Parts: sequence; structure tokens; C-alpha cells
Amino acid sequence: MISQFFKFLVTLSPNLKRFLWRKWYQIMAKRYQLPDWNFMNYGYAELDGYQLDLQSYSEKDRYFIQLYHFVAAAVNINGKKVLEVGSGRGGGASYIANALEPIEMIGLDYSANAVKFSNKHNANSTLSFIEGDAEALPFENESYDVVLNVESSHCYGDMQQFVNEVFRILKPGGYFLWADLRSAEEGKKLSSIFKTAGCEIKQEGIITPQVLNALDLIHDQKMKMIEDNVPTMIQSAFKDFAGVKDSKIYNAFKDGSAVYLRFVLQKPSNL
Ligand SMILES: C[S@@+](CC[C@H](N)C(=O)[O-])C[C@H]1O[C@@H](n2cnc3c(N)ncnc32)[C@H](O)[C@@H]1O
Repeated sequence: MISQFFKFLVTLSPNLKRFLWRKWYQIMAKRYQLPDWNFMNYGYAELDGYQLDLQSYSEKDRYFIQLYHFVAAAVNINGKKVLEVGSGRGGGASYIANALEPIEMIGLDYSANAVKFSNKHNANSTLSFIEGDAEALPFENESYDVVLNVESSHCYGDMQQFVNEVFRILKPGGYFLWADLRSAEEGKKLSSIFKTAGCEIKQEGIITPQVLNALDLIHDQKMKMIEDNVPTMIQSAFKDFAGVKDSKIYNAFKDGSAVYLRFVLQKPSNL
């Protein structure tokens, strides 16, 4: 049975959904300027214990980085022009720009405060952040080799409009690397949304077990961060947002009413 949480999200009108999420992320980025907080995803941890060699990257961000790596390293990004839509606080784009070496990378987010934070803490000579809307991307047709989208599209009013936009700005042969959560029901509709836009599905999969594994491993760290920084009255909303053990989303992943999915998509080169 679909959880109340997803029932609520799915029944919102597109405009209300856009408005509420935008408000939430604006407030979060403005209120929580913590320079050490650079990721807002649920993370990824292999079930066999395999860990990414992080070298100079922060160990405390391991599972968030591993999700980015899992999604982005599906294709060779080296020397490519890359756009991340929904870049949040910029930690993922920063990891990709440094570790996977695109020639140029832009992170786009509709929260002006998150963009400001990202440009202050995560920009470098190949990476910058701009404000923009996933459903109306401010770029020319066929201008990117790779578009990346990690745990952001559940906030959008119209998923089909977003995927059409990605398809428009991708160069022929370009890749769209996508991961996010959905209700089990909504998850079944995704293939058809991607295909309607014209994308070819190269890989697809459910990664809920790996995401749950990360949520378990990072539970204590998240609880401490919430308890140290968030007023008691709103801690419960933050725990749901962060997906700590026994939160609504954690339980929905556990009982199968929510799933975490990833797709590797390609714009055909013979258009
Ligand atoms: C859960 S956070 C994930 C951020 C980042 N990808 C990460 O993994 O750390 C979702 C992000 O999507 C952004 N977002 C939501 N709707 C958007 C839209 N329509 N256009 C651009 N960004 C959007 C939010 O502002 C937020 O930063």
C-alpha cells in the first residue's frame, strides 16, 4: 500500500508542488549556511561493502559522493560538457568536476540561495552554478554532452516537460544520467516518459537496497547534525527529509511503497 507521504506528494497540483519545494529549499539554503553541508541526497552504499577510493574527498560525505559516482560514472565524462540540473549545495558537481574531469560543468538550481552557497563554496575554474528552472532550461538546443539529475525531479511539477527539455539541449549521442525516488506506482511510468521524449534506455535499475544501506550507515551522523542545528519543534520534519531510520520515506523504502531508481539514457545520434 502506498504510504501517506507519497499519497500526499502525488496528489499535489503541479503548481503547488513546485511552490512548496521551492520554498523549502530556499529556506534551507538561507537558514543553514554551514560550509560543511554540501549534499542533500540519501546516499549509496554497495551491499558487498565495496567502497569508492575517495583520496582527497571528505570521508563524512562518502555515501552522498558514492551516489553521484554511481550515477555519473556510467559513461565517460572526461572532456565532456556537463550540466547538472538540481545541483543543490554543489557538493556533487564539485566531486564530478574534480574526479571525472569534464571540460566544463554547470550546476543549475532554482533556489537562488543554494546557487549562492554553491558559488561561494564549490565553484572552480571549470565549474560554476546558475539559477534556473528544470522545466524551462536556459540553454540552446543541442548544447550539452551529458545532463545529470540526482534526487531532484520528484520536486518538479511536470516530469515530461523536464525530460523534453533535457532531450532538447542534449547533443545527438549525448547522455542523460538520472536517479531519484518515486512511489512504486509512479516509478512504473518513468520508462514511458523517457521514451516519449525520444530517449533510448541504455540501463535501468532499482537501487533501493543500496540507498537503504547508506541510510542505515549514515543514520547517527544525520541525527547528530539535526540535533545540533535544528530547533526541536521542526526536527521531525528534518528527520523525514533526511530519511533517518523510521522516518516516513525510510519506512516506505522498506515496505516497497517507495523505490529509488536510476536510468542511463541516450539521445540517438542519428537524428
Ligand atoms: C534533494 S535536493 C538534491 C540536491 C543535489 N542533487 C544533491 O544530491 O545533493 C533537490 C534539489 O533540487 C532543486 N530543485 C527542485 N526543483 C527544481 C526545479 N524545478 N529546477 C531546478 N532545481 C530544482 C532543489 O532546489 C534542491 O536543491
